[in-house]
Amino acid sequence: MNKTIIIANWKCNPNSLKEAKNIFGKIKKSLSRFKKIEIVVCAPFVYLFSLKNIAGGNILLGAQDVFWEEGGAFTSQISSLMLKDAGCKYVIIGHSERRRFGESDVTINKKIKKAISFGLNVIFCVGETKEEREKGRTFEAVSGQLKIGLGGVSKNLTKNIIIAYEPVWAINPGKPCLYDDAMTMNIFIKKNLVKIFGKNFSQKIRIIYGGSVDSQNAKDYIEKTLMKGLLVGSASLTEDFIKIAKKI
Ligand code: PGA
Repeated sequence: MNKTIIIANWKCNPNSLKEAKNIFGKIKKSLSRFKKIEIVVCAPFVYLFSLKNIAGGNILLGAQDVFWEEGGAFTSQISSLMLKDAGCKYVIIGHSERRRFGESDVTINKKIKKAISFGLNVIFCVGETKEEREKGRTFEAVSGQLKIGLGGVSKNLTKNIIIAYEPVWAINPGKPCLYDDAMTMNIFIKKNLVKIFGKNFSQKIRIIYGGSVDSQNAKDYIEKTLMKGLLVGSASLTEDFIKIAKKI
């Protein structure tokens, strides 16, 4: 039985290693005895090697993106092997803030296949935009992302996949998704995963929720939507992240 997983997505924050170590250190100090939850901090690349020394136990390290090649002439890219060397156990792939800058379902698929083949756990983000939602295309958008993103992924590696349902319009605090809607999407995603991997293999994939999560709504998202964890953006840089984890 997997533990509930709470993932911090620091995005392009904080602006110094000193602050990064400080926030990570507080998380470690406050939450390392909460063994029933798994905490993953997805930090900017430049901080990973320094945080590797502090991570451990139930507080693990993740990255926010990865390249699909093993290495070579690809200026600025970071490979799965580099992430592993830097202490990462997890990597976010397909976040909507990456999709906004041109990440496609096809490149996401290449990244997932490569990262997972190197033993990284993949946090694959899916979710509809505001426009897709308003046009009644939520299901179509999410099923398309899942189908292309997971195409050709080995059934034997499904235990290393987490799907983060993040409605794009709910990202950034203040616009949370209704619990019923998140629950509906949880069930919908499960059905799609059964189509892709079959019943037994799809059951190994954890589905989590992200978008405007804070310490006021975290417990309800877990209890009312049956999600297996949370992906937390803004609140993950503050004391609220510790409160979120303690409430689960
Ligand atoms: P948020 O971001 O918690 O600030 O809404 C979530 C995310 O983008 O992963």
